[in-house]
Amino acid sequence: MRTQVGVIGAGPAGLVLSHLLHLQGIESIIIERRSREYVEKRVRAGVLEQATVDLLCETGVGGRLMREGLSHHGIELRFEGEAHRIPLSDLTGGRAIWIYGQQEVIKDLVTARLAAGAEIHYEVSDASVERLDTERPVIGCTLDGKRVNIECDFIAGCDGFHGICRHAIPAGVLTTYDRDYPFGWVGILAAVAPSTDELIYAFTERGFALHSLRTPELSRLYVQCDHDDRIEDWPDDRIWDELHQRLKKSDGWTLKEGPILEKGITGMRSFVAEPMQYGRMFLAGDAAHIVPPTGAKGLNLAVRDVWHLAQALVRWYRARDDAALAGYSSACLRRVWRAQDFSYWMTSMLHRFPGDDSRVSYKLQLARLAYVVTSRAAATSLAENYVGFPIED
Ligand code: FAD
Ligand code: DHB
Repeated sequence: MRTQVGVIGAGPAGLVLSHLLHLQGIESIIIERRSREYVEKRVRAGVLEQATVDLLCETGVGGRLMREGLSHHGIELRFEGEAHRIPLSDLTGGRAIWIYGQQEVIKDLVTARLAAGAEIHYEVSDASVERLDTERPVIGCTLDGKRVNIECDFIAGCDGFHGICRHAIPAGVLTTYDRDYPFGWVGILAAVAPSTDELIYAFTERGFALHSLRTPELSRLYVQCDHDDRIEDWPDDRIWDELHQRLKKSDGWTLKEGPILEKGITGMRSFVAEPMQYGRMFLAGDAAHIVPPTGAKGLNLAVRDVWHLAQALVRWYRARDDAALAGYSSACLRRVWRAQDFSYWMTSMLHRFPGDDSRVSYKLQLARLAYVVTSRAAATSLAENYVGFPIED
């Protein structure tokens, strides 16, 4: 098999890249370890930045997002039983965020890619990448029981944090930065109308909680849990009980409960691999970096990376100009580190750190929250990072 760009991974990074390349007349083949059904059902991100939404719309895959997505112009910070609204759009010249599930973005992209005749191979096993430092890098994999080689001009490693691409880079090339947080999130999807119109980020002595949403009938909620907790430690009653306590408000507001359709635990880490390139292989999205989910940045960073990569590849195919490819890693890393700092800041402001038995940290976190909700300058800083920066910025 032969293609121009071989893409490993049919998550947001791989699909958006393949879509953007197609619009510029560049062909790609995507291989994906999981089944189509699995990838389209995996519940993950829900918050899209304005720039991500604009890109999806401008490239013809934003129709359903415009009809079914929910645009939000503010978020709430809740602490000591009081609600404080951060008016995101007022503070950022009208920018907004959109609530639209990652798996819906995936479905829209897969539909568009297949309608355009794309090759997406699901349930591929034993993927490998070879000859990365030559002009003909190769993806090897097992497809329908047969071993195949895909010869490429370039390989895009869009295979997430646990993929193979980053690990295929020879020792000594990458510098990695890694921080594991001493807690995680229990996340649920519940069949109940959201008890709020806007996202609520809550900080309490018991820990963090987040009330998000998906549709007028579906709520998405998270609670901070211990680092080593397993989902069996969190029966439904315990999850609702913690959510009630952490989201409690002094004015009698109550949280509505409903059947839990899905639940899981997410670890929290900050990770960056530099550079995001080796020879003719480029890493994008979670394959190169992970942020703790508190800032809602991961999917948005993945889209930003592949936007840069698509631009750079177009320049190469049009004029054999490799300057943008050479600058790919540094162009991405600037925004990656901005998002790392913001996600770390949100995470440290809103979570209880275990082992921290002095009451000092708690008071400092409250002081920081009080400042953010009373100072226009501090609130603007949160807002501009949360809604995100223009893609070409
Ligand atoms: P992935 O989505 O991980 O896709 C990689 C793909 O590669 C997968 O389909 C995988 O099966 C495939 N793959 C892996 N190995 C191989 C292999 N060897 N061969 C072939 N295929 C392979 N981000 C936001 O922006 N906003 C949010 O609100 C948000 N909330 C989140 C909440 C939670 C609970 C979690 C877990 C994450 C959240 N994120 C959020 C982060 C976001 O989901 C990820 O950053 C995003 O999925 C990254 O996309 P990706 O394409 O880089 O990687
Ligand atoms: C959601 C996830 C996040 O990580 C976040 O910060 C906000 C919302 C969500 O899944 O809806």
